[in-house]
Amino acid sequence: MKIAVSGKGGVGKTLIAGTLARMFAKDGFNVLAIDNDSAMNLSYTLGIDSETKEKIVPISEMKKLIEERIAVNGAGPGVYNINPKVSDIPDRYKISGPDGLQLLVLGSIEEPATGCLCPENALIRTLLYNLFVKREEVIIVDFEAGLEHLGRGTAKGIDVMLVITEPSQKSLDLCNKIIDLSKKLGVNNIYLIANKITDDTQRDIINKRIEDWEVPLYHSIPFDFEIGKADLNGESPIDFNQDSQGIQAIKNLYSKLKKLKKEIIDL
Ligand SMILES: Nc1ncnc2c1ncn2[C@@H]1O[C@H](COP(=O)(O)OP(=O)(O)O)[C@@H](O)[C@H]1O
Ligand SMILES: [Mg+2]
Repeated sequence: MKIAVSGKGGVGKTLIAGTLARMFAKDGFNVLAIDNDSAMNLSYTLGIDSETKEKIVPISEMKKLIEERIAVNGAGPGVYNINPKVSDIPDRYKISGPDGLQLLVLGSIEEPATGCLCPENALIRTLLYNLFVKREEVIIVDFEAGLEHLGRGTAKGIDVMLVITEPSQKSLDLCNKIIDLSKKLGVNNIYLIANKITDDTQRDIINKRIEDWEVPLYHSIPFDFEIGKADLNGESPIDFNQDSQGIQAIKNLYSKLKKLKKEIIDL
C-alpha cells in the first residue's frame, strides 16, 4: 500500500505520516517511510535514535550521487539524463528505525513555478516514481506542501492520498487545491483528515466549507497536549504516550486504512 500525506505546513503531516508508519510496522508490515518535506523532521516522529539522526544526509544533497547518475558521457554542461537509474538507491540509503521500519530521507527541492528540470529534481522525481510504482513495502510519504514534483505516472502509484487540514480556512484552501490536482493526476482514493480539532463547532465549520467537495471528511484527530510535550522532549509521540487522545485517534485512522488496504489491494 502506498500512502501519501499532504497539506499545508504545520497541519500535522509529519505527525500523522510518522505515527501511521510506526503502527504498520508494529503490526508486522514491511514499512518504508519517506521524508520528502523540506523540514525533514520525520525521523523525530518515527523515534529514530539521535546518533543515527545526526548522520542522515538527504538524497537531494548527495551531490556526487546526483552527478554520477545524471551525467551523460561525453556531453557538455547542461546536458543530463532525465531518466537516471535509481532502483538501487532506496536499499542503499535507507536507515533502520524502531519496530523494524525503514526511513529514506529524500529531502526536497525548491522548484520554481516554471518547473525547473534541474538534476536534483530529475533524480527525486524518478525516485518517487520508483518508490510508488515499483516497491512492495507499505510506503508512507511525508510530502512537501505542494505536489509540484508529482508526475502523472507517480500519482497513479498512490493508493491513498491523505490530505490533512487544521481548523483554518487557509489550510482548507490548500486542501482544495491539492484535492483538485490529485484528481487531475489520477489519484483514486483521496481522503480529507482534520487535525488539531478542539470542539464540535470546528468540525461543523469544516463540514460546511466542504459541503460541495467530492471528498468528505474521512477522519478527525483532536488537539492533544501530549503531542506537544513529546515534541518538547524530543521523543516520538507514540513512544511518549500511546494512550493519549491524539495517538488513539490516529490508531483509529490506522484501522480504517488497514480495512481499506484489504478492499483495494489484497483483493
Ligand atoms: N493533534 C495535535 N495536537 C497537538 N499538537 C499537534 C497535533 N498535531 C500536530 N501537532 C503539533 O503541531 C506542529 C506541527 O506538526 P507537524 O506534524 O510537524 O506538521 P507538518 O508536518 O504538517 O508541518 C508540531 O509541533 C506538532 O507537535
Ligand atoms: Mg512536516
